Amino acid sequence: MPVIAVVGAQWGDEGKGRVVDYLAATGGELDRPVDVVIRFQGGDNAGHTVVNPLGEFKLHLVPSGIFSPTTHCVIGTGCVVNPDSLIVEMDALHAAGLALNNLFVSSRAHITFPHHCQIDGLEESARGAKAIGTTGRGIGPTYADKAARWGLRVGDLLNPDRLRQRLAAALPRTNRAVDILGGLPTELDALTDQCLDWGRRLQPYITDSLPLVRDALERDRTILLEGQLGVMRDLDWGAYPYVTSSNPIASYGPVGAGLPLQAVTQVIGVVKAYVTAVGAGPLPTELNDQMGDDLRRVGNEYGATTGRPRRCGWLDAVALDYARWLNGFTSIVVTKLDVLDGMPEIRICTGYRLPSGQIVTRMPDPATLGSVEPEYESWPGWLCATNQARRWEDLPGEAQQYLGRIEELTGAPIGWVSVGPAREAMVAVKR
Ligand code: GDP
Ligand code: IMO
Ligand code: MG
Repeated sequence: MPVIAVVGAQWGDEGKGRVVDYLAATGGELDRPVDVVIRFQGGDNAGHTVVNPLGEFKLHLVPSGIFSPTTHCVIGTGCVVNPDSLIVEMDALHAAGLALNNLFVSSRAHITFPHHCQIDGLEESARGAKAIGTTGRGIGPTYADKAARWGLRVGDLLNPDRLRQRLAAALPRTNRAVDILGGLPTELDALTDQCLDWGRRLQPYITDSLPLVRDALERDRTILLEGQLGVMRDLDWGAYPYVTSSNPIASYGPVGAGLPLQAVTQVIGVVKAYVTAVGAGPLPTELNDQMGDDLRRVGNEYGATTGRPRRCGWLDAVALDYARWLNGFTSIVVTKLDVLDGMPEIRICTGYRLPSGQIVTRMPDPATLGSVEPEYESWPGWLCATNQARRWEDLPGEAQQYLGRIEELTGAPIGWVSVGPAREAMVAVKR
């Protein structure tokens, strides 16, 4: 009964969507089809790019297994759902010919309302120079309401009495907060009508996802848990406060999906062959020079959700060790190897020099990373194209060497190497 978590090992945008699409469509050496894919946290702050025979898609809420018609795709209980955003995404997928009768939305997931997005923007402005650089998708305010027990859940869209009652209780508090921040109040009747519209549109998809998930596990089906973002932006373990408001690490997978802890059998860490981040906060290996610009240009490193240029830098093995520890990777996928094809020299950060001069190889509290200096080792580049490689033997010796070092430093075996955005551009590493 394999339950496989696929999670980001860095600052997000590692290629999780690409990996989930590949595994769901091909089974990717898992030796069995993937029956269920569950997004277990986050909301439409995610931008998961999938390139397959149907085209190129930027998924924000819909799980990346959606292109495999027999794979049940669940927006899980741990997620927050902006109904407008979901409907736009569903319309685009319908237009591409998908029936979407394999899509399910947990009735327990929380709703992101327009006022959450408004508050997100106002709070960012109020932070001024200390802004987090959020995606502006209302993620923090939605999770804040959830934790404060003022939130509404997707299932409430189907229950007009409860909906009105919950909105009537929550809105005065929300409007007071918005007023303090200088925003516009939300009107109860208008929002209630809007919710009822959303409910009518989403009703076929809203479900108690637990029986579906439980049935899949009990029938020994293969389940993938699709993470959003990466460990370095985890609410508890990232560089607080430059984090998201949920837990992208694999241990949250069972919570957000509705599975017992012991059900998870594998954790696949998705590792970009270098690092990128969008938004503020420390990024020790950031390259503010021509090399950083080259990585951005060749890797097309622009946010899938906001279009912002991503900050780029060398691979950070201290962060990978931290990611492996917190997630318990059983294997990793290294993505975007092809982006390094033209680099004569490739660096890996293997330690941090602290302000005291001491060099550490274990992650300190990431909130202190603004004051560390990366210590690098250097590897020769391969200076030839890797995007046609489909077997380990097809990769140049220097690339194999670089990957071997990543494996050694991360402490988890490489299961796959991605050499292009398209589904088939994958090397399955056989041992
Ligand atoms: P996610 O948020 O982790 O799903 O990643 P994103 O989709 O935000 O960012 C990854 C970007 O890299 C997307 O534009 C993908 O199409 C692209 N991509 C994924 N894997 C590869 C790869 O191996 N090589 C190249 N060149 N691009 C890739
Ligand atoms: P995927 O799933 C990269 C970043 C934002 C900001 C911080 C908090 O595509 O990897 P939020 O909107 O969550 O309150 O913003 O987290 N961020 C992401 N960065 N990829 C993402 O998702 C992100 N989702 C949020 O830039 O720094
Ligand atoms: Mg992304």
